[in-house]
Amino acid sequence: MNDFETIRRDTLAAIAAASSREALEQVRIAALGRKGAITTAMKGLGALDPEARKAAGATLNRLKDEVAASLEAAAARLGEAQLAARLASERVDVTLPVAPEPQGRIHPISQTIDEVVAIFGEMGFTVAEGPHIEDDFHNFTALNIPPEHPARQELDTFYLPEKADGSRLVLRTHTSPVQIRTMLAQKPPIRIIVPGRTFRSDHDATHSPMFHQVEGLVIDRSTHMGHLKGCLVEFCRAFFDVADLPVRFRPSYFPFTEPSAEVDIGCSRAGGELRIGAGGDWLEILGSGMVHPKVLQNCGIDPGVYQGFAFGMGIERIAMLKYGIPDLRTFYDSDLRWLRHYGFLPLDMPSMVGGLSR
Ligand code: PHE
Repeated sequence: MNDFETIRRDTLAAIAAASSREALEQVRIAALGRKGAITTAMKGLGALDPEARKAAGATLNRLKDEVAASLEAAAARLGEAQLAARLASERVDVTLPVAPEPQGRIHPISQTIDEVVAIFGEMGFTVAEGPHIEDDFHNFTALNIPPEHPARQELDTFYLPEKADGSRLVLRTHTSPVQIRTMLAQKPPIRIIVPGRTFRSDHDATHSPMFHQVEGLVIDRSTHMGHLKGCLVEFCRAFFDVADLPVRFRPSYFPFTEPSAEVDIGCSRAGGELRIGAGGDWLEILGSGMVHPKVLQNCGIDPGVYQGFAFGMGIERIAMLKYGIPDLRTFYDSDLRWLRHYGFLPLDMPSMVGGLSR
C-alpha cells in the first residue's frame, strides 16, 4: 500500500512539474509504459493471495485511472500554454514601420516613367498602352507616313518575316501608333500618355535597339498650340525641378504633326559639366506638334471639329539628363552595383505632392 501511495505521489508530482508535452510523455512512460511503475505493480499482483490481490487490484485500477485523468488534464493545459507561448514568440506588430532600408532598387527607367506619369496624371492625363509588334498601318500609314516616305528608312525599322500576302509586321519604331489605336477606339476629348518600349536598329553610347518613349496626345474641340506649349513647359519645369527652366520651341518636321516643334531646355556646359537650367546653351529633349488633319481623318475624327497636339520623348534620354547617367548601354547591363548607385528606394513613390525623386 505504501508503495502505491509513493507511486501515486511521485507520479502526480511529476505530472504537475512537467513543462512540456515531451516531458509529460516521459512521465506517462515511467508510470504506465511497459516497464512503468504502475504496470510493474499490476504484474506483481499475481504473487499475492486472493484477498490481498482483490484489494490491491482495486487500488491500482483507481490509481491508474487517476494518473490517466491527470495526464490528460496536464496535456490539455500544456497544449494551450505551448500554443500561447508560440503565438507570443511569433507575434508580429503590423503597426511597426517597414524596414527602413529595403534591399531592392527601382530601375531609373521605371522611376522616370513613374515621375512622368505623376506629372501628367496631375494634369488629367491617363495612361494608355499598345502592342510592341505593330502593323504597317498603325506604325506608319495612319500616321501619314506613306510607303515611299523617307522617314521609313530613317527609322531603321526591325521587320518581321514577310507574310504570305507580302505584308510585314514591325517592332514599333515609336509609341505614336498608340495615338492611332486610341483615336480609333475612343471619342474625343482624349488626354493620354503612353509610356513603353520602342525598337530601332541602332547601337552606340546614345542609341540602343530597344529603348523607351512616352507619347502624349490631347484631342478636343478647341485645343491649340498654346495648350501644347503650356503643357510641355510645365512638364519640363516639374520634371527637372527647375522652376525658371528656359524652354524653347524650334520649328521642326514630323509627318504626323503640322506645325511641328522640337522642344529644347536651357542648360550650361561651362567647365565641361552639363547643368540643366538657365545657362545660354540648349538641349533637345522632345518632339511635338499639332496632330496633322490627315491623321485625324485616318482615325475617323473630323479635323473641322477637333484639333489636338501630340508629343514624344525618349525616357532614357531624359533620365540620363536628370540623373547624370553618362552611357545609355548601362541601363540594360543588369549590373547590381550600377543599380544600387543609380536606382531608387522602392518606398519613395514619385508624386506631385510627395516629391518626384530624392
Ligand atoms: N514619334 C516621334 C519620334 O519618335 C516623336 C513625336 C511624337 C513627335 C509625337 C511629334 C509628335 O521621334
